Amino acid sequence: MPPFAELHLHLEGTLEAEMVLELAERNHVRLPYADLDDLRARYSYASLQDFLDLYYANMQVLRTEADFAELTDAYLARAAAAGVVRAEVFCDLQAHTARGVPAPVVLAGVTDALSRSEADHGVSSGLIVTFLRHLPAADAERAYAEALATGVELLGIGLCSSEVGFPAAPFADLYARARADGLRTVAHAGEEGDASYVREALDQLGAERIDHGINAMRDPSLVQHLAERQIPLTVCPLSNVRLKAVPSLAEHPLPAMLDAGLLVCVNSDDPAYFGGYLDDNLAVVRDAFGLTEDHLATLAANSIKASFLPESEKARMLSAG
Ligand code: HPA
Ligand code: ZN
Repeated sequence: MPPFAELHLHLEGTLEAEMVLELAERNHVRLPYADLDDLRARYSYASLQDFLDLYYANMQVLRTEADFAELTDAYLARAAAAGVVRAEVFCDLQAHTARGVPAPVVLAGVTDALSRSEADHGVSSGLIVTFLRHLPAADAERAYAEALATGVELLGIGLCSSEVGFPAAPFADLYARARADGLRTVAHAGEEGDASYVREALDQLGAERIDHGINAMRDPSLVQHLAERQIPLTVCPLSNVRLKAVPSLAEHPLPAMLDAGLLVCVNSDDPAYFGGYLDDNLAVVRDAFGLTEDHLATLAANSIKASFLPESEKARMLSAG
């Protein structure tokens, strides 16, 4: 397998069910699950919101710097085994500060693991703080200030959580500020929301990369725009199937996105919740669509090109493939 970059990965979404229960015990957090089977029985979702409810409930077990470091390190080890050489990971900071875990605890734990990722796992890494669009933009601005105050090195900012009915426009000032601070910008759009959400993320936020973006395929002029500008789309097939953003894997637009010349790459989103890591996502799309080695090489090269690495590093990784 050629080397891949993973660009759409929520660290909290790598919290495996076993770890939820282990950390609940270690941190004395009471959860409403009888046992592992009971918890696992809840991993079936009617919608994005249905998943988010479980995702936010489970992350309550993350309390200490060590918890965040262990979570991050476990992901990096698993990602390396999947062929990942570059990981630009998301952290939903507000979901932790809102329940009383201070920003320095969260970010110190995550960056402790990220700072060792190259040496320990051969994975170059960067941290993207993702803000929650179901909360007011003022909350996100406060969390951004808290993140900066930790002094932790950030690669960028993103926007995630519930999509439909939560416009991106109120976050435009935050995005402008982050850009002025030298940070890169991404945003979830076009997952459950229609193509207009993708346009809004591009036009109002100036997002450089779109997370999911599958519903852009319903708007031919937007597809043309995305193809011409080679705006990256980080697609997550298992996530889309499990959240019913597509009716079935067979109807996933990934082949059409490749045919349209879009800069599309495959990612795992929340692997502990959707049935697999990057290699698992690649395996299901390869089998479902009969993708060839050439297609996989294109997806790998796209992921490196879509990363926020310096051009010289991209060239080095692309030639290694
Ligand atoms: N969509 C929006 N927000 C999220 C997701 C997702 O797939 N995963 C974690 N937060
Ligand atoms: Zn996501």
